[in-house]
Amino acid sequence: MRVVVSIGGSVLVPDLAPERVEAYASVIESLDGAGHALGTVVGGGQTARDYITTARELGANEIELDQLGIAVTRLNARLLVAALDDRAASTPPEDYDAGREAVRRGDVPIMGGVVAGQTTDAVATALAEHVDADLLVFATSVPGVFDADPDADPSATRFDRMTADELVDLVAETDMNAGSNVPVDLTAAKVLQRSGIRAVVLDGTDPRTVERAVRSGDHDGTGIVPGEGAASLAEWRE
Ligand code: UTP
Repeated sequence: MRVVVSIGGSVLVPDLAPERVEAYASVIESLDGAGHALGTVVGGGQTARDYITTARELGANEIELDQLGIAVTRLNARLLVAALDDRAASTPPEDYDAGREAVRRGDVPIMGGVVAGQTTDAVATALAEHVDADLLVFATSVPGVFDADPDADPSATRFDRMTADELVDLVAETDMNAGSNVPVDLTAAKVLQRSGIRAVVLDGTDPRTVERAVRSGDHDGTGIVPGEGAASLAEWRE
């Protein structure tokens, strides 16, 4: 199966613990060893937010803030490259063609951000579309997509499964400012909608959740399916 994994910066490097990065590298190596073709995109996490907050106070404009964010995502991507064996492309590809070329060579591209005005959710979705991925896994710090902000609203409920159309409707009103914290951004949702790629949004704190979702289709997050009558991820894999 061809799979793109989007790893939030807050999941990979909430701090700079080498064990956590190593654990993600092991899962990527294990899936690669099992014959899956993989692409990975890494987010900026708290470090990106800190840089963005400071630069905003210094008067940087939104594009400059995005460029800082992109730089941090690429730093984080390099950490994962450092933990992987020689199957990883040695530098983070800076555009989708380079990412696809790496997949074609049989390498695992570890990308960060690409252009201003989006997040790495959108990068992962566009890469998934570019490589004709069968599955896109968003490993985030929240356990899926909720109907309200679970931190602010105790009655917020997680969707087990939703269509890409429903996802687009849900995130359409979300603030797109640099560093904003949303499960999946609008650009990513719209690319998912047009491409029909199946996706899972899950809590990736334990990277084995990603491995399980890829290997068996089982997960405790939100499955995003192309249309109303579509099968669940587990059904689809059988
Ligand atoms: P992230 O993808 O980490 O954003 O990129 P996020 O959603 O705020 O982080 P998580 O998922 O909660 O950890 C960090 C910042 O880098 C810029 C944006 O400013 C984004 O907020 N960025 C990233 C871009 O401008 N373009 C990209 O392609 C990627």
